[in-house]
Parts: sequence; C-alpha cells; structure tokens
Amino acid sequence: MARPFLPFSLPDITAAEADAVTGALRSGWLSTGPRVRRFEVEFATRVGAKHAVAVNSCTAAMHLALEAVGVGPEDEVVVPTMTFAATAEVVRYLGARPVLVDVRAADHAIDPVAAERAVTPRTRAILPVHYGGKPCDLEPILALARTRNLVVIEDAAHAFPARWHHRAIGSIGDITCFSFYATKTITTGEGGMATTERDDWAERMRIMSLHGISKDAWKRYTAEGSWYYEIVAPGFKYNMGDLAAALGLVQLARADEMLARRRRIARAYFDAFHSNDALELLDPGPFDDHAWHLFVVRLRPETLRIDRGRFIEELKTRGIGTSVHFIPLHLHPYYRRTYGYEPGDFPVALDCYQRSISLPIYSKMTDDDVHRVIEAVTDLTRQHRR
Ligand SMILES: Cc1ncc(COP(=O)(O)O)c(C=O)c1O
Repeated sequence: MARPFLPFSLPDITAAEADAVTGALRSGWLSTGPRVRRFEVEFATRVGAKHAVAVNSCTAAMHLALEAVGVGPEDEVVVPTMTFAATAEVVRYLGARPVLVDVRAADHAIDPVAAERAVTPRTRAILPVHYGGKPCDLEPILALARTRNLVVIEDAAHAFPARWHHRAIGSIGDITCFSFYATKTITTGEGGMATTERDDWAERMRIMSLHGISKDAWKRYTAEGSWYYEIVAPGFKYNMGDLAAALGLVQLARADEMLARRRRIARAYFDAFHSNDALELLDPGPFDDHAWHLFVVRLRPETLRIDRGRFIEELKTRGIGTSVHFIPLHLHPYYRRTYGYEPGDFPVALDCYQRSISLPIYSKMTDDDVHRVIEAVTDLTRQHRR
C-alpha cells in the first residue's frame, strides 16, 4: 500500500495552541493587546534582548529595522544573494540599493570577504542571513561594521532558537529580525519579531509598526490610556494581533522540545549521508547551536546520471516533498534588469543553488518518516550512480 505523501513542512500544533487561541477569541481582544505584550516580554527574555517588537512578519521587522536606523534613498545595504525575496526587497522599500554579495560554499552564509569588498562610502548597513538556522560568521561582520560605521541587521528568519558563542541569536547585532511564518521553527501563522538593545530604535519600530501613531491601540482604549493620539510619521500597519500572540506564546514555550526533535532528525541525516560520496553536506558548526530550520544536501553531479530537478521529481514520486533554498536573488528578472547582474557574478551561490535540495526536517516527522527520506535519498544515489 502506498504511504501518504510526506510534505516538505508541517506546523507542530497541539491542543495547547488550540486552547490558547480559543482563549484569546473568548477574551474579546483580537488585535494587539495583552497577549502581544506578554509574547514580546517572554521572547525578549528568551533571547536576552532588552526590547522585542512583535509585528506581522519578518519582512515587516526588517523594513522597520532599516527605517529605524535611518536607511534612505542614497544608501546601500549589503545583502547575500542566497536568500529569500524579503531580505533585499525591504531595502528597495526605502529607495536604497541592495548590494548583493556571494556566499560561502561551506554553509551558504554571507562571505565576509565579499561583504567587505562591497562596502562603499554609501553603505549604511549589512543584512546577513543565518541560513537554515546556522548562525553566520558574525565576528568579521561585526568587526567590519565597527570599522566602517555600519549597522548590522540580522535576518534571523530561520534562526530561532540558535546560539552563537554561547549567546542567543537576537542579542548580538544591532537589530535582529525573526519570522513566525507557518513553516518556521515557531509559528504564529504569520508573524515576526525585531529585537534590539537600543531604546530609540525599539521606540521608532513600535511607532512605525502602527501608523506612526505615538501610542499603542491597547493603551488608547484601556482605562490607563486615553482617546488622544498623535501621528508623528506616515507609518505602516505591521502590528501583531493577540490571536497570533496566543499561538506564539505556546510555541515559544515548546521551542526547545521542537528543536530537540529537529536536532535528532539532523543527526540521523548526518549519520546516514556523511559517507555518501554523491552528496555534500553543509558545515553545521556547533551542532547544538543550530536552529535546524533547514537540512540541505548538495548533489555531486560528477557521481550521478540525474540532475537536481530529476532528483526532486524522483523523491516526489516516492512520496517525499522537498524544496530549494534559494534561487539566488541575482538570477531573478527584477535584480538582473535593475542592477545588471549576470548569473556568473556570484559563482559560489550559483553553483550551490544548482545542486541543492532541502529535505523535510520538522518536529511532527516520525522516526518512520525520517527513515523514508534516508532510504529514498540513499536509494536514488545508488540507482543513478554513474
Ligand atoms: C531568509 C528569509 N528572510 C525573510 C523571510 C520572510 O519572513 P516572513 O514571511 O515572516 O516575512 C523568509 C521567509 O521565508 C526567509 O526565508
């Protein structure tokens, strides 16, 4: 009997999340309210940050972060090409230029040497991505930022809860942006968070996340607040609601349990694939510091008679969903047309992209699911060996 299709990703939602959301619904407070505040406080405590500002996506968090630090039309922001659309589009929102740079083959993270070469007098910020949940090499990035007076805004969409040199991601760069999208390591359906130590940046992000209004809605409408508000800038509508935060609070409490499961899956994949010479694995760094949002394998074409596209199709035929992270930004029509990028401009990202497959790795997977993936991948590399 054919086994059911194993999706690439599934959220891990228990009765506790359902109860929390039902509780929020019954409370009568559906938009930004006490649960959002609690989620911010608990998240900030968890990552060791002074401030956490909850918003409705990581994209919103990154946009607010760049706005808060003052990025504007004449500015440049250094962004790795191996990332999702959001990381560079937020730079464009502010009229600034995303300057793409290549990544390291070892872990698909921003190449610090390339980042340094890309800095010009117009550069205001660097936006490194913690690809797949592995903290990128922050030391040279932070050093570059110090010497060239740049702001470091981390795209940590994949990286909760990850650690770097015994510190949680979220307490290191100037502003760190997290995603709670449905497929991420904790989810609020859609959602995000920006963390920072700076009072002024936190205040600016908070104000701009809600129409540039100087008071939060929940303060306005409660006894301690008042009807009066002031618009201090033309802000955005990026606030998180209490339904999402109710879900987020339970997911936050379960984050370690879910990470432990993903870590075990990652370990099983490593054990199964490390000696398979048709595959290359990314350098995980300290295994327990990784958030294990993605598990990427790269095919070695010289050993195989099928290409990456066929490999993905064959896995699908065997009932296994996969994905590819990412189609580098410089290959997309918008970036090619606007900035004249050519595919060969970033050879490492191009090569890694062409050979990469992201395998399922999520806490709802059973041991049997993990086995199926291992068997299918191993069998395909055997069956199609040159
Ligand atoms: C690297 C990266 N950055 C940012 C985002 C955007 O996150 P969100 O959907 O919460 O805006 C994603 C989403 O997939 C991502 O993979």
